[in-house]
Amino acid sequence: MRIVFIGPPGAGKGTQCKRLAEHLAIPHLSTGDMLRSVDKATDLGQRISAYIDDGGFVPDELAMEIVTTRMKDSDCVESCLLDGFPRTLRQAELFSEYLASNGDKIDLVINLSADREELTSRLLHRGQIEHRADDYAEAIALRLKIYFTRTAPVIDFYANKGIVRTVDAMGTPDEVFEHLTASIPARE
Ligand code: AP5
Repeated sequence: MRIVFIGPPGAGKGTQCKRLAEHLAIPHLSTGDMLRSVDKATDLGQRISAYIDDGGFVPDELAMEIVTTRMKDSDCVESCLLDGFPRTLRQAELFSEYLASNGDKIDLVINLSADREELTSRLLHRGQIEHRADDYAEAIALRLKIYFTRTAPVIDFYANKGIVRTVDAMGTPDEVFEHLTASIPARE
């Protein structure tokens, strides 16, 4: 089963994917984590930092490359959770073509929804504790703006295929997880 998680920054994609990956025993692929894990002492790491630390996106081709490279690993052959990818229409189109060329497809898209005040408050709180480079007010505002202009259309792309389930992400992590698992069809 391949599941894509879409949602604005702070909606809980990482939190819920981690739990669901354990629950379903399938790999969790977070493009944000993969990008942050590239050594900042390398040229690539510095280029990535320049894109993401202010809240912008890396180029679509780079996002595609890191995901499709990871998906070639043996643990991803049948299933994976995609956290934060695709997040532009071009990524969604390129990824659909890539999957189709391998006789593969996305089975389900989880759209986590929460209001802007809650998202901002969660991210500012995390910024104070974890000091993530893009968790400050200006970068959060830019991330939200980019989400609603560039990523929200990806939901329509998958809605046209009838595979989107919207999950209310305003409750506690436990409540959200309960809504989430209820929206995932049982595996045969
Ligand atoms: P990424 O790491 O994916 O960041 P994001 O989309 O901004 O999402 P966050 O990690 O901030 O939020 P989340 O929804 O995962 O919530 P989380 O569970 O962490 O990407 C970082 C950057 O990489 C992007 O901005 C971009 O530059 C680049 N990038 C990544 N993918 C890319 C792509 N495909 N193309 C181009 N560029 C790409 O929770 C957030 C906080 O809230 C945590 O502190 C958590 O503890 C708390 N929390 C979670 N759930 C709850 C809850 N229910 N109640 C209260 N608190 C909660």
